[in-house]
Amino acid sequence: MALRQIRIMGDPVLEKVCKEVKEVTPRTLELINDMLDTMYEANGVGLAAPQVGVLKRIAVIDVTGEDPLVMINPKIIESDGEQTGYEGCLSLPGKSGEVTRPNHVKAVYYDEQMNLKEVEGTELLARAICHELEHLDGHMYTEKVNGELVDNSELVEEKEDQE
Ligand code: NI
Repeated sequence: MALRQIRIMGDPVLEKVCKEVKEVTPRTLELINDMLDTMYEANGVGLAAPQVGVLKRIAVIDVTGEDPLVMINPKIIESDGEQTGYEGCLSLPGKSGEVTRPNHVKAVYYDEQMNLKEVEGTELLARAICHELEHLDGHMYTEKVNGELVDNSELVEEKEDQE
């Protein structure tokens, strides 16, 4: 198990567009394993490669804690519905903001063997997919927050896990 340092908002690496992955090398697999370890250690439900300083289009998500989803070169191909709720980010610890997202998304991605896969998600999974994919284009959820960011300690209800 190897943990990587999570980059904090303000770090320029979080504002860059990530590059497509052309092949999965042993180094890519090491990165993915480290991203999963780092996400679980931080009690997050998602982590994107730029959050550990790597400008590659890779994101990991696990909204249940036992169902890791590794997405390489992911793209959202369908989205519909709407949900509004609080979300946070491991790159902005202790804060949350209310963001409106699609309630249902379908995405395509490559797995670690570079097989094309499809995932469909609603609610928290849909939110996490949207959030992580935006990181790959250099965006943070803070750009979409309705109103002000709040301290997590102020959130009595509606608290969601950090993404
Ligand atoms: Ni995030």
